[in-house]
Amino acid sequence: MCGIIGIVGTRPVAERLVESLKRLEYRGYDSAGVAAVVDGQLQRRRAPGKLRELEAVLAAEPLNAVTGIGHTRWATHGAPTLRNAHPHVAGQVAVVHNGIIENFAELKAELIGHGRVFESDTDTEVVAHLIDAELNTGLAPLEAFKAALDRLRGAYALCVLIHGEQDVILGARQGPPLVVGYGDGEMFIGSDGLAVGPFTNRIAYLEDGDYVVIDHASARIFDQAGNLADRPIKLVASSAAIMEKGNYRHFMEKEIHDQPEGCQRTIAAYVDALSATTAMPGGLDFAALERIQIVACGTSYIAGLLGKYLIEQLADLPVDVEVASEFRYRQPALRAGALAIAMSQSGETADTLAALRYCQAKGMRTAVVVNAAESTMAREADVVWPIHCGPEIGVASTKAFTAQVSVLTALAVAAARARGRIDATEEQRLVRVLLEAPRLIAESINLEEAVRGVAQEVSKARDVLYLGRGPMYPLALEGALKLKEISYIHAEGYAAGELKHGPIALVDDQTPIVILAPYDSYFDKSASNMSEVMARGGQVVFITDPEGEKHAPAGARVVVTAPRCDPLIAPLVMAAPIQLLAYHVAVLRGADVDQPRNLAKSVTVE
Ligand code: G6P
Repeated sequence: MCGIIGIVGTRPVAERLVESLKRLEYRGYDSAGVAAVVDGQLQRRRAPGKLRELEAVLAAEPLNAVTGIGHTRWATHGAPTLRNAHPHVAGQVAVVHNGIIENFAELKAELIGHGRVFESDTDTEVVAHLIDAELNTGLAPLEAFKAALDRLRGAYALCVLIHGEQDVILGARQGPPLVVGYGDGEMFIGSDGLAVGPFTNRIAYLEDGDYVVIDHASARIFDQAGNLADRPIKLVASSAAIMEKGNYRHFMEKEIHDQPEGCQRTIAAYVDALSATTAMPGGLDFAALERIQIVACGTSYIAGLLGKYLIEQLADLPVDVEVASEFRYRQPALRAGALAIAMSQSGETADTLAALRYCQAKGMRTAVVVNAAESTMAREADVVWPIHCGPEIGVASTKAFTAQVSVLTALAVAAARARGRIDATEEQRLVRVLLEAPRLIAESINLEEAVRGVAQEVSKARDVLYLGRGPMYPLALEGALKLKEISYIHAEGYAAGELKHGPIALVDDQTPIVILAPYDSYFDKSASNMSEVMARGGQVVFITDPEGEKHAPAGARVVVTAPRCDPLIAPLVMAAPIQLLAYHVAVLRGADVDQPRNLAKSVTVE
């Protein structure tokens, strides 16, 4: 989703704005722009496409200023064209925005009625006009800003620059996150810590309804009621180093390779390695729990689905999993005795956040499994279970997925023990198994060469089917999602048992069928499905383990042999081959792996 940066600085601002926007590229965008106060005058430069287009515009027409705002736009209202690129300017005001102004149509009609002329199709432009109209009534910038905010309905993070105000930037948050960065004689506003990371590691997080005015030396933050608010300044780890790709071509590739470490750090937070027992923070009584409701979107939803398989099987605790966008609107029947768990890498996904709040309003206890420790969900949930895999930059989630699954695996074991489904010895065995996962994930990443071979074939396909049973079914969904997201090849994940109820009609010699089947209790059934596919000329891509290879049906071509492991951690160990497959297919097809078309890293609008 859109990225925002604002700088009240002492040094030339244009390249610093672009530097920051580069840190926000991971969010997904299709145009970019900056505005600055040059000798008291507002000026802007914009370009559709990637940041290099904006840089070319800036090289041709430099902006000589020290204070400015910048934006990467992910189109919602209006095509990704030059005229719709932010900043939007009306009279004395330039605005950048992330979110959706829901009442923009009525505001626009009203403003047009007052003789105002609009240049773009965006919802954002009304904000610039509203503030400008308030300034024209004689209000000071901060008052004019607040008066305009009071008219807006919807979700927004805003950053505003005003003609003649070399030393002031305004910001507001209602929904999508916004942070204030404290520098040395300079101040910043940004979408997240990464945006201001190149300039400072001292950050305050705005709360919903907050608005702020920054100058060179300070920030005054107000809450929705207009009272001065105290938002603590936190020291965050320098983001510069973790943002580098190192020797990898893409962030996604790096993040796939980061997984052993990301899972190890995560698992270490949820088990006591010495005593080999689980240690779930949060003080929840799993024995008394009646039900778990998991809500999430995208890959986080699939991690939740894996959690259902693990928790129900091990702990005999009912788990419902639902995509947050459905859950939040369909008025689900909930009980206060259940625990709601939101799964979210970013902690900001609009639908997941709304679902979390819905559960809270129903009196449920809430927990969040989250990567961004300072995110809105992390601040609002009763219990926070962080994953410790470091910032994830590639739009297609990889290391956050395995880290999320690691937490849910620990939770399943903890709940099983608390509910008396396993004894202390079995808990110790399972914890030791979980502790082996990072090493086995590393082994499975080492299969990259074999995967690259298959990728050659798959890259030529028009459609690909992914099949699995048990925990391999959610993983089949994840394999198909990864392939669609980054290679743009149509892919479907199916429960292998459903093959005969539809997808088998798609089987021909042109359609690769990826079958995920380690040698577990489901193996024989999966092997039968494989035979059915092969009998119809289907091109099976069989991903299994050494035992599965031994028992493969006649004629099956095993292409990837992942390390043998306990079923508890099979989803973690089998994840890397399907991630690598999608990655290499996308690379072979020349796709933009880290910023796939139309996708955003953190979806802060509905
Ligand atoms: C977007 C991203 C996905 C991610 C999903 C949920 O669609 O492209 O990779 O899985 O949002 O995001 P969250 O931050 O809530 O996990």
